[in-house]
Amino acid sequence: MLVMGMVLACGPLLWVYLRNRRAKPLGLMHALAVVTLFLTFDLVLFGAFTRLTDSGLGCPDWPGCYGSASPLGASAHIDAAQQALPSGPVTPRKAWVEMVHRYLATGVGVLITVLMAAAWFGRKSATGQGTVNPWWPTLTWIWVCIQGAFGALTVTMKLFPAIVTLHLLGGYVLLALLTVQVVLLARQPGPWHRCP
Ligand code: HEM
Repeated sequence: MLVMGMVLACGPLLWVYLRNRRAKPLGLMHALAVVTLFLTFDLVLFGAFTRLTDSGLGCPDWPGCYGSASPLGASAHIDAAQQALPSGPVTPRKAWVEMVHRYLATGVGVLITVLMAAAWFGRKSATGQGTVNPWWPTLTWIWVCIQGAFGALTVTMKLFPAIVTLHLLGGYVLLALLTVQVVLLARQPGPWHRCP
């Protein structure tokens, strides 16, 4: 799962770097925060898709799918579950929808980790220049871990309504925290942000 998240995160990280090669570190962080906010918004939409296609229990365990990193490795279990209950929650398509939601969530988690590391590192090397409070990215990182834990509970507690509702609320809070970071970074003055 973590490997899949890291591979997925490489795409946006590379894209942000290539498009902002000449920007100062704060400009890079701003671009990364904007891309992370956009992808988190997409993840929230994909969460709704997961729910509306009844795919929430497409893989009824956690963190893997029947213990495998992808539905490919779990195909025997998935076929058996589908044959036992053809109208049930487990089908290959539902398993993929559920696992893609988890892969995307892990990718967003990796991006938020990079943002936090960049904020702490940038704080040390930015004496006298614009800088961002590293506690916002740290709070966001803590929150994405909590949100992941609620995602796990959503599955292991078999879509218990209060847990799914808290998971939805957690997605909104994550969007709000990332929005704060984007705004704070956009407000930073000085040579860190703009190319000379
Ligand atoms: C950054 C992390 C995550 C975000 C922002 C997020 C967001 C969401 C959202 C907004 C929904 C729709 C809820 C609704 O419509 O009521 C959802 C559904 C769901 N999420 Fe996540 N999620 C995240 C991580 C995870 C993880 C790590 C898992 C599993 C390990 C997970 C499992 C689920 C499941 C099973 C559903 C479907 C619930 C249902 O069918 O009722 N999520 N997610």
